[in-house]
Amino acid sequence: MNFNKRNIFQRLFGVCITQPPQDPTCWSFKDGLLIVDLDRTSELTDPGGAIRLERDDLPDKVLIIHGDDGNYHAFQNVCQHGKRHLDPVPGDNTVQCCSIGKATYDYEGKILYGSAKDKLKIFPLDLDEGKLFINIE
Ligand code: FES
Repeated sequence: MNFNKRNIFQRLFGVCITQPPQDPTCWSFKDGLLIVDLDRTSELTDPGGAIRLERDDLPDKVLIIHGDDGNYHAFQNVCQHGKRHLDPVPGDNTVQCCSIGKATYDYEGKILYGSAKDKLKIFPLDLDEGKLFINIE
């Protein structure tokens, strides 16, 4: 298992690595469907890339990654230990909490490390014509 390199202050204050997309128009949300245009989301071009999405009308915080397995994955961006944000761990097929506890989950949301009690919530997605369609329930 690998851990993202973060200093003690970043861990203490829960400063995550993953940022919102540079192009805020790359995504939309309506009627429970989150749509991400990959042509306008350069952060997701390569495996290991990620964005986090948060907005008042979005019912959950969402982490979207281009996984090491070559697929895209969408997670509720809320660690099941203490509710902090998550980041992908490049080359490790995992996502990991930015906080001290370093809770780590696989792409199915299963806990691999740390003291989280529950699985991480996964959002189902489809890829069609360069767009991700993510069902936010
Ligand atoms: S909040 Fe994630 S490990 Fe504690």
